[in-house]
Amino acid sequence: KTLRSVAWKQDHRFVGVAVADDKLSDETYARTVAREFSSVTPENVMKWETIEPAPGEFNFEPGDRLIDFARKNHQLVYGHVLVWHSQLPAWVNEGEFTAEELSEVTENHITEVVSHYKGKVQRWDVVNEVFNEDGTFRETKFYQTLGEDYIADAFRAAHAADPRAKLFINDYNTDGIGPKSDAMYELVKDLLADGVPIHGVGIQSHMILDLYDAESYEANIQRFADLGLEVVITELDIRMDMPATEEKLAAQAEQFRAVTQACVNVDGCTGITVWGLRDSDSWVPGWFEGQGAPLLFNEDYSKKPAYYAMYDVF
Ligand code: XIL
Repeated sequence: KTLRSVAWKQDHRFVGVAVADDKLSDETYARTVAREFSSVTPENVMKWETIEPAPGEFNFEPGDRLIDFARKNHQLVYGHVLVWHSQLPAWVNEGEFTAEELSEVTENHITEVVSHYKGKVQRWDVVNEVFNEDGTFRETKFYQTLGEDYIADAFRAAHAADPRAKLFINDYNTDGIGPKSDAMYELVKDLLADGVPIHGVGIQSHMILDLYDAESYEANIQRFADLGLEVVITELDIRMDMPATEEKLAAQAEQFRAVTQACVNVDGCTGITVWGLRDSDSWVPGWFEGQGAPLLFNEDYSKKPAYYAMYDVF
């Protein structure tokens, strides 16, 4: 049995992985992604800087490659990401736009990308990381130029382009109840009340070993599910101070177990995606100094205790 098969038996939950385009050609990498996971998220290739590097010029090839891979391996695709302040091309981030112009540029981007993948991407992160830690809106290009309406507009444009795709708002440090997840909660409630086509909340869950409040995590997922929304754990990893020891890896496994259990406990929590395959594939060492080992597989593709813990819960 594999992770994907045991997860599927748990009420058809999916278990996904962020895939790095340049590694798909590695046979063992590809085989492991195909065998163990029922969903894939493009780690980078559907981000704005890659997919629309110049105005109106779209580079769909790497995304198409992943879609192809997913189809061959009977996997879902979780699209990431339409509107985000990071990994934007300079022509957007540094461009001088009136509100009308930026709104048109953004709508066109969403329409082109979602239409291209219509019927092939089942879920989309429509907006990503719109909040500051205190729950105020992040001052991005989009917010500064368009105000908070850019969020609702993005969902409407995505829905018009593929009415069957499930549309998500996604963020980090929204793992437990607190000012940031409270703001997310209020926002999605307002969007729903206004009839905006939003279907889910993504809880990124970039976590730190031993900093985890299981009760708060589950209560948070539950309150979003209670709004009738789907919840997906979209970017799970649990980093630790290096070097990793047997003890830390065992504690990490327990934390993966608890996170997985929280999802299984909530009906609306439909899947968990881990943010990379092996520890050596992870973004963590490059972004958080001295930290690493946050995933389910070792560099030689052997399974870590964390893998068995997730498997166990499913
Ligand atoms: C990260 C990728 O893993 C890296 O390869 C890239 O250099 C930077 O972005 N939140 C997100 C993801 O929504 O898109 C980010 O992915 C990690 C944080």
